[in-house]
Amino acid sequence: NWEMKDFIKKEIVRIRHLVGDRAQVIGAVSGGVDSTVAAKLMQEAIGDRFHAILVNNGVMRLNECEQVKETLDEHLGINLTVVDGAELFLSRLKGVNEPEKKRKIIGATFIDLFQQEALRIEKEAENTPNAGPVEWFLQGTSVSYKGPSATIKTHHNVGGLPETLKLKLIEPLRELFKDEVREFGRELGIHRDLVMRHPFPGPGLAIRILGEVDAERVAIARAADHIFISEIRAAGVYDEMSQAYVAISKDRAVGVQGDARVYGYIAILRAVKTLDFMSAEPYNFDFALLKKISTRIVNEVEGIARVTYDITSKPPGTIEME
Ligand code: XMP
Repeated sequence: NWEMKDFIKKEIVRIRHLVGDRAQVIGAVSGGVDSTVAAKLMQEAIGDRFHAILVNNGVMRLNECEQVKETLDEHLGINLTVVDGAELFLSRLKGVNEPEKKRKIIGATFIDLFQQEALRIEKEAENTPNAGPVEWFLQGTSVSYKGPSATIKTHHNVGGLPETLKLKLIEPLRELFKDEVREFGRELGIHRDLVMRHPFPGPGLAIRILGEVDAERVAIARAADHIFISEIRAAGVYDEMSQAYVAISKDRAVGVQGDARVYGYIAILRAVKTLDFMSAEPYNFDFALLKKISTRIVNEVEGIARVTYDITSKPPGTIEME
C-alpha cells in the first residue's frame, strides 16, 4: 500500500526532525498493537535512542511477558527493558476485592515502576557520550475503532505522562484508527498475529478474576484462558471475534471427580463482536467447539469445576467482567 508507505516515510522524517540528532525518547510497551507499532516506528526513526519499557504486572497471560520480550527485542530490534513487578503488584493487590480499587492500584504501581526505570535511563543517558538527554515520552495510543463513536478513546485508558517526568509528549498514532494502525503495523513488518491481536486491558487478568487476586487464582485464570484462546485459534475463528477471554468466579461450585465431590471455581467464557467497543454482541459460538473447550478446561485446569458461556450483550453488560 503506497499511501501507507508514504505516510510511514513522512512520519519517520517528522520524528527525526522533532527529536533531533541527540535527544532520547522513552515509552511504555504492552505487547498490544498500538504500543508495538509506535515503538517500531520510533526504532526505525532513531534506533536505540528510543527506550521501550515493559512492566510485568503479574497479571499478564501465560508466557505473555516472555513473548512480548522476544517479539520486540529479538524480532523487531527494539531497545527494550523489562521490569519485573509481579511480586510488588500482587502484594499491593492482596485483600483487595473492589474492581475500581484494583484498577487504581495497578495504575499507580505501574507509574511508580515506570518512573523509577525512566529515571534510571535518564541517569544513564547523562553518561552516554554519543547521545543527549531523555527529552521525550512516547504515547502510543490511537483513536478507538471505526463506528458511531469513533473519536471516543477507551474511557479506561487514563493515559497521560507521569508528571514528575518533565518530558515532552510524542504521539505518532494519535490520529489513526485501529485498523489503520494494523495496516501500519503490517507495513512495518510486524507479525500478523500481533497485528491482529485482540485488545487486552491494562489491569490484565486482575479484572477477570472476580474478587481477590492471588498467585494461585492468577495461575488458574491463566491456564483456562490459554486453553480457550488456543482452541479459538486452532478452529480458525479468532479473527471473527473482537475480544475473547476467560474469567473466574469468586466462589466455588461443586463438581465430581471419580467418586469424590470437588469444589472449584466457575470459568466464565466471554467472546464478543463489536465495531467500537461501546456496544457489543456475544459471539455466536459453535456449540461443539464450546463443549470441547469446556471439557478441556475442566479436565486440565485443577481448581475449575464448571464452565459457562456469557451471552450478555453490551449494553447492559460490559465486555469485561469487572
Ligand atoms: P468494557 O468492560 O467497559 O470494556 O465494556 C470496553 C473495552 O475497554 C477495555 N477495558 C480496559 N482497558 N484498562 C484498559 O486499558 C481498563 O481498566 C479497562 N477496562 C476495560 C476492555 O477490555 C474492552 O476492550
